[in-house]
Amino acid sequence: PTPESIQSLILQTLSTSNTIPDSRELSIDGQTLNTSEDQNAIRGVLDSLQRKEMVEYKQITATSFTLTEEGQLINEKGSHEIRVWQVLPVKGQGEPITVPDLQKLVGADVAKIGQSNAFKKKWISKDGPGFVRAVEQPPKDETAEQLKEISSTGNLKIAGSENAIKELQKRKLILPKKHIHYSVTKGPQFSTEVKQLETDLTVEMLQSGAWKESSFKTYNFAAAGQPTDGGALHPLLKVREEFRNIFFDMGFTEMPTNQFVESAFWNFDAMFVPQQHPAREVQDTFYVKSPVKALQPDPEYYERVRKIHEEGGYGSIGYRAPFSREESEKLLLRTHTTAVSTAMLYELANQPGGFKPAKMYSIDRVFRNEAMDATHLAEFHQVEGVVADYNITLGHLIAFMQEFFAKTGNHKLRFKPAYNPYTEPSMEVFSWHEGLGKWIEIANSGIFRPEMLEPMGLPKGVRVLGWGMSLERPTMIKYKIGDIRTLVGHKTDLDQVKKRAAVRLEKGDD
Ligand code: PHE
Repeated sequence: PTPESIQSLILQTLSTSNTIPDSRELSIDGQTLNTSEDQNAIRGVLDSLQRKEMVEYKQITATSFTLTEEGQLINEKGSHEIRVWQVLPVKGQGEPITVPDLQKLVGADVAKIGQSNAFKKKWISKDGPGFVRAVEQPPKDETAEQLKEISSTGNLKIAGSENAIKELQKRKLILPKKHIHYSVTKGPQFSTEVKQLETDLTVEMLQSGAWKESSFKTYNFAAAGQPTDGGALHPLLKVREEFRNIFFDMGFTEMPTNQFVESAFWNFDAMFVPQQHPAREVQDTFYVKSPVKALQPDPEYYERVRKIHEEGGYGSIGYRAPFSREESEKLLLRTHTTAVSTAMLYELANQPGGFKPAKMYSIDRVFRNEAMDATHLAEFHQVEGVVADYNITLGHLIAFMQEFFAKTGNHKLRFKPAYNPYTEPSMEVFSWHEGLGKWIEIANSGIFRPEMLEPMGLPKGVRVLGWGMSLERPTMIKYKIGDIRTLVGHKTDLDQVKKRAAVRLEKGDD
């Protein structure tokens, strides 16, 4: 039967009799719809009618029974006990039958079980070496009768049949089978005619007034929603936010780093990086063609910087190498955010009201002319902290970094002497990585040189410490990213960007 024919049958039946107590009694062309396939088809039609509130239905689960192979045998030939009784002679009218003979007559299994059951029921008795009948009339074979009823109706109707059913199941003579059917009544929107339901209220319906006659589909609040396709924060942004919060926790203020193009003066000269330093060559630094020249810094400051490079001063002998204005005026993509820190320190020294101690940080992009591979890109981000105050020592630098890195979950640090043209002393920072089981380099740091600070006009006794690191490295470790090219650039795995969890760098105890 087609869904359409089932639907009209259900609606017609309800319209004449109001209810359908058992959907198995529905029939089309004299064919009752009592197979499980029929009931499945009915279920589909009922669901669709229920969504339109035309019907309400309940599912009913009933159990019927079928005979096992053994049950079938008993149904045909009688129970084991009756078969034993049948082959025995009436007492005094024949030779009592011994166990071996009984086994030959009815088979070993039937003989064993039948003899013991018949004995219990007092149908047979012992007579010398064998058995004879104890009753003369054929006893009532209940088991066989029950099985006969089950085989024709699927169940037992007699009173107390539950125990009998249990017993037959225990003897493995019958097997249960579940059946699902439905009882159906009219719903609030019942009609023999199925209306087309509207999904949306339209302008036209409102204008014509058709909405008054229309029926609307009900909302399906159980429907699984469409996955939303919203934006997602890039992992670098999540880790940046964490670092930013750590700096704020420690009382740092953010430096303005929104300028990727710097002059060689701020990126190198002001930091006392010699003009002959290899890092300044085009193989390492991206220079900007246009505009060709940077704006002039304060001429007096420029002169002091030139002097410290070429001639020395403040107790330093300088580089005593030529210093060219042309080199100084070159524009480039900054190679480190320390260029910004330098400009900020100059501001700090020359602000109205004079120098005040400061703790400043930045997290932003830098550029290096490097060969790209799984761990290097030509642009990346630096995280940098700078502290300027009177009487700062190397001990302060170590303590600041210990506090900072403890807040990122790095509790075991080691420091190794290193070289930067602008810091003395300088230290590389290593952290013990539990997962990798080794020390990994996490930062570069140092105390800025007087050759860099004194020309700025910072008061005597002011020391400045700083540390810097990349943002990509901790991000890759945190999110277990092996290839930086899947994190940044045209091969970025957007799906992963969306799925990656918010990051929580471990906070320290405070
Ligand atoms: N500028 C250094 C780098 O690029 C980091 C650093 C910052 C070192 C501040 C010392 C002080 O690696």
